[in-house]
Parts: sequence; structure tokens; C-alpha cells
Amino acid sequence: MNTKRIFAGVAAIGLASAALAHTGATGIVKERMVAMSAMGDAVKEISPMMSGEADYDAAAVREAAEVIGMHAGETMTRLFPEDNENEASYVKDAIWEDWETFAELAERLHSYSEGLALAAENGLGSSQDGMADAGAMMGGGDMMGSGSMMGSGMMADATMGREELAEMPADAVFAMVSDTCSSCHTRFRTEAK
Ligand code: HEC
Repeated sequence: MNTKRIFAGVAAIGLASAALAHTGATGIVKERMVAMSAMGDAVKEISPMMSGEADYDAAAVREAAEVIGMHAGETMTRLFPEDNENEASYVKDAIWEDWETFAELAERLHSYSEGLALAAENGLGSSQDGMADAGAMMGGGDMMGSGSMMGSGMMADATMGREELAEMPADAVFAMVSDTCSSCHTRFRTEAK
């Protein structure tokens, strides 16, 4: 987020500051920016725990997962009506040209956030291998549309159920959550202007 665009006055509010920085954003565009920013803050809060830089706190992870879940799925997609024209928005038209993929990613985020809430108690993967897998998923980039994920046993796919996710180390599920954020942004959000 570009700090230059943050109003000094609202910076202290934290959650809303990034969204309010988009001066032209109003109505539903602003609403979705606020929602996205809340998820961004949730991710930022727990990612140092996932990398071992901060002490792991299962309750905080569960809470962050719930914040993400609250804004995912249909709650997210209904904030992207096709007729919205707004200069302040960073959306690509691809959202409406490929609504199915967009909605699928929003839905996937919802399942993964539920999985993360359930996996929070599991803590971090203990083995080096576990961390390497999470890292690979994180950097794996293009999960969507790449046929390769179907064949690779370790790679989680969209059909992975809550029960399976609930058994995984929290950092592995977190990697899947953040991979879903980036997959959607890569396809459907323009670079900051
Ligand atoms: C289904 C697609 C999709 C998913 C999944 C998604 N985003 Fe976004 N996100 C977008 C789009 C599109 C925008 C641009 C909205 C606009 O500018 O109108 C955006 C914007 C943002 C912004 C900028 C908000 C602002 O103030 O301009 C942040 C931060 C963000 N997302 C965080 C996240 C995080 C964190 C996750 C995962 C937990 C996530 N997003 C998941 C589509 C998605």
C-alpha cells in the first residue's frame, strides 16, 4: 500500500486507512476496499507467526481466519456488480468476462479460511519438509488453470475438504489461503496506479 496516499488523519484508524486513502472510492467500491483491507490486516497479523518470527497464538490465528471467512465467498462477490464504473477501482474487466473463475476463487478462500480456523490448534508443521511444502505452495503461483496441480499428490486442490484441511499444520493451510489471495489479485486486480 502506498503510504503517500494515506491521510494523516485516518492513518491512526488502522483498518480503514488504506481504503479511505483511495479518495475517489465511494459506495460499493469503498466497501470492498475496506473488506479487502480488513483481510489484509488479518494476514499481516498472523504471517510472522507462520514464519516463526512471532510466537504462535492459535486463538489469534483462528480469529484472523474468521475475519477472512467473513469477507470471502458470496459476501465478496456481491461487492463486484458488473455495472460499477469507478475511477478509483483497481479491478480488471476480466472479473466479469470470467466470473466463474472469480467466484470460484472467492468461494475457495471461504473454504480455506474455515480450514485455517480448524487447523489453528495444530500449530506449525514440525518437520523441515513441512515448511518446504508450505514454501513451495506459497511460491507455486499459478494454481488456477494449471493442469499440473491435478496430478501432484502433495498439492492441495480446490476440492480439498474441511476435514482434510483441519488435519494439516496451520502454516500449510495459511499458505493455501494467501496463495488464493494472490491468484485472484494476479488475474483480476491491476497494479497500483
Ligand atoms: C476472488 C478474488 C479475490 C480474492 C480471493 C482476494 N482478493 Fe483482494 N482484491 C481483489 C480485487 C479485484 C481487488 C481490487 C478492488 C478494487 O480496487 O475495486 C482487491 C483488493 C485488495 C486490497 C486493496 C484494497 C484497497 O484499499 O485498495 C487488499 C489489501 C486485498 N485485496 C487483500 C486481500 C487478501 C489479504 C486476500 C486473501 C485473504 C484477498 N485480498 C483475496 C480480489 C480478490
